[in-house]
Amino acid sequence: MQKIIAALDQRRTDARLGGGQKRIDAQHGKGKLTARERLEVLLDPGSFEEYDMFVTHRAVDFGMNENIIPGDGVVTGWGTINGRITYVFSQDFTVFGGSLSETHAQKICKIMDLAVQNGAPVIGLNDSGGARIQEGVAALGGYAEVFWRNVQASGAIPQISVVMGPTAGGAVYSPAMTDFIYMVKDTSYMYVTGPDVVKTVTSEIVTHEELGGASTHTKVSSVADAAFDNDIETLLEVRRLFDFLPLSAADKPPAVAVNDTIDRAESSLDTLIPDSANKPYDMREVILKIADEGDFLEIQKDHAGNILVGFIRLNGSTVGVVANQPLVLAGCLDINSSKKAARFIRFCDAFSIPILTLVDVPGFLPGVAQEYGGIIKHGAKLLFAYAEATVPKVTVITRKAYGGAYDVMASKHIRADVNYAWPTAEIAVMGAKGATEILYRSELGDKDKIAKRTADYEARFANPFVAAERGFIDDVIMPHGTRRRVARAFETLKNKKAVIPLKKHGNIPL
Ligand code: HXC
Repeated sequence: MQKIIAALDQRRTDARLGGGQKRIDAQHGKGKLTARERLEVLLDPGSFEEYDMFVTHRAVDFGMNENIIPGDGVVTGWGTINGRITYVFSQDFTVFGGSLSETHAQKICKIMDLAVQNGAPVIGLNDSGGARIQEGVAALGGYAEVFWRNVQASGAIPQISVVMGPTAGGAVYSPAMTDFIYMVKDTSYMYVTGPDVVKTVTSEIVTHEELGGASTHTKVSSVADAAFDNDIETLLEVRRLFDFLPLSAADKPPAVAVNDTIDRAESSLDTLIPDSANKPYDMREVILKIADEGDFLEIQKDHAGNILVGFIRLNGSTVGVVANQPLVLAGCLDINSSKKAARFIRFCDAFSIPILTLVDVPGFLPGVAQEYGGIIKHGAKLLFAYAEATVPKVTVITRKAYGGAYDVMASKHIRADVNYAWPTAEIAVMGAKGATEILYRSELGDKDKIAKRTADYEARFANPFVAAERGFIDDVIMPHGTRRRVARAFETLKNKKAVIPLKKHGNIPL
């Protein structure tokens, strides 16, 4: 018996060594942790239970029958984050460069199937040279099996991808179909074809980092949601994100004990809006002052800064926030901000996370580039996402809500549940200056007359009361009381029931 137990111990020790000490040292030399070390940071101490440690590939070509490493380049299983269960896989770059073989894929598929069956998220730590070259189509088939499961799991359980090394070719499409992608700065990259192929096909000369590094994907392409300085920081941020999310679509968003009172008044909000309508202010400040303990987990912070999206807690429960940011492009809606917010809203709706919308929007960004780029279709994504969402929706207009953007930003008409406005709100078809120039074009030469017309228009429309008279705004609230009013509104919506017409699925303008 002792001998048998010792043999098991030895097998485990061998498996844990992955591709061997030399390759582990090389991994560390690049500033990267190993697959198992990463799981130790991600999961609660001692909570990881590994499956399929002894799985090996079945390839024989290119001498692979003599090159067998237990585990086959991916560590899989489950563990807990602050006591809540998650399934995980962590690719081991020390074993065949973390490349995906048929059996490597089967290991990932097994934990994805268990996650869907048992209603728990999947977190994938990606660090891989792509399809195992020695296996050919068997590896490609393995990828497709993973892709199919990503789609089946979408909307059923949260899926989080952490890109911690290379991800190239079709391999990028598994992370791309998950809900969130976090990257590690300087050591991770994602692209469909690498710099060499790019050079051959388009003659463009570009580095790995420029083409698919964390900066590119968080700022330019928006493929990734956030990037952090190193493995440890990134994994700790994944833990933070996880804490905001429900375990599955059948679960409620987590409620945690917080050290904050709902009645907390924020008198500084009463002086936040500048006297001039053209002066910006930081909407992030409003979010931080509404949120429990001032905690705001921002998603896509470095992309489309004219809209802010992310998670806060109110009364301990997760709330998704979508907010125009007057500091960037005056907070107007454009292609990128529409796409960014639409995707976030759909995530919240899929996982029963209520949505708070803070509005200060002068309209859609005008311009040839926007029209040619399809602002009609992309703006429609945001409108569609808001109108489709049946989770509790509370809206606060802080200043401008002009034109179509008023309708889009969770107005009463597209079924926001509770709509508030600050007394500084201006709800109109457009700003007073623009309106006057159209209505009184013939008087444009007379400065005094135009100034009077503008003042008249402002007096009539640059306020929340015309909308409040019609019940489009449920109440005009004091800025300092926003946290209390919003939190109480969400309390009333806890048991909201919404009926949607029978359908297979809607057809969001993709
Ligand atoms: C098998 C691989 C591998 C792969 C790397 N290795 N990629 N083995 N299949 N795809 C092995 C190497 O042989 C090496 O083995 C070890 O992993 C580490 O690789 P290095 O090249 O030494 O590391 P590094 O210099 O850091 O470069 C990493 C890399 C490079 C940039 C990822 O290895 C590379 O370009 N690999 C090929 C990438 C690729 O073209 N993959 C196919 C993409 S297409 P030893 O024994 O020396 O340690 C694809 C299609 C998916 O994935 C389609 C889905 C639909």
